[in-house]
Amino acid sequence: MHIIKSAKKLTHYVNQLRANDKNVTIGLVPTMGALHLGHASLIDASVVANTYTVCSIFVNPTQFGDAGDLDKYPKPIEKDIELLMEHKCDILFLPEYDQVYPENYVHREFDLAGMDFKIEGASRPGHFQGVCNVVARFFEIVHPDVAYFGQKDLQQTVVVKRLVKLLNFPIQLAIVPIKREPRGLAMSSRNIRLSEKGKNNAAFIYKALHQLKEDVEEMSLQDALAKAKQFISAQKGARIDYLLAVDTTTLEEKEKLDYKTEVAVVIVVEYEGVRLLDNIIL
Ligand code: PAJ
Repeated sequence: MHIIKSAKKLTHYVNQLRANDKNVTIGLVPTMGALHLGHASLIDASVVANTYTVCSIFVNPTQFGDAGDLDKYPKPIEKDIELLMEHKCDILFLPEYDQVYPENYVHREFDLAGMDFKIEGASRPGHFQGVCNVVARFFEIVHPDVAYFGQKDLQQTVVVKRLVKLLNFPIQLAIVPIKREPRGLAMSSRNIRLSEKGKNNAAFIYKALHQLKEDVEEMSLQDALAKAKQFISAQKGARIDYLLAVDTTTLEEKEKLDYKTEVAVVIVVEYEGVRLLDNIIL
């Protein structure tokens, strides 16, 4: 695996690959590191579908509201490199701040149709604008054919879809299903902050979502949501931040299902002091 730290060198390297063979396709997997098997599933999807896979590891300051949260972000780079090599990633882009945001860089404000203020955006002002700035930079540096994002961060996938349209990038987005622990907890870099017991118990989130998907076959969406809320609230130490049914295109909240709109239930539960994010498409 090549490790490239300079944006210019990476652009040049990718251009060379394309110049040598016009059939080459490049898959890009943007990450913030502290890689786990959820990230690995994105790498695997790219490796099977493309000639070359580029993974970026960059803890993007512009998407963190809380500087403390940014400082605490784990950076186990040696372990990350091992995982990437095991999964046959071809190129690791490991830039310093100034490679992504050069001195003359002007932070862009994208018209995200208000989607940046909804759901996660409501409690994290500026987060999705930060994500769009960094993702746009990666797209400009790598010019991938396909970019891979996890269903785990549903709102991020919707916002990035809009970004691709806004910028007219000739890039296909591939959304990879949520990778879960054996008992159902969605894998996340934050899960290491849970106790071993907590990690097992936290499977109640997926259990609730899974049950909810079955329940909407037999009861109204509102009743199914209320039932799930009750089930989760009954779990010791769990606090629901939000549990909402949303249109997966606009992120508008949905009161009922109508068979024309794809609807997902998005959830954040605080458990053992950790915000656990999950979703299910109904
Ligand atoms: P990060 O949290 O490192 O996640 C990188 C990618 O891995 C995202 O697309 C995320 O949805 C995906 N992912 C995380 N856990 C997953 C799981 N359990 N199953 C499937 N995919 C999973 O998301 C970011 O970084 C950043 O916002 C980024 C896009 C890199 C921009 O800075």
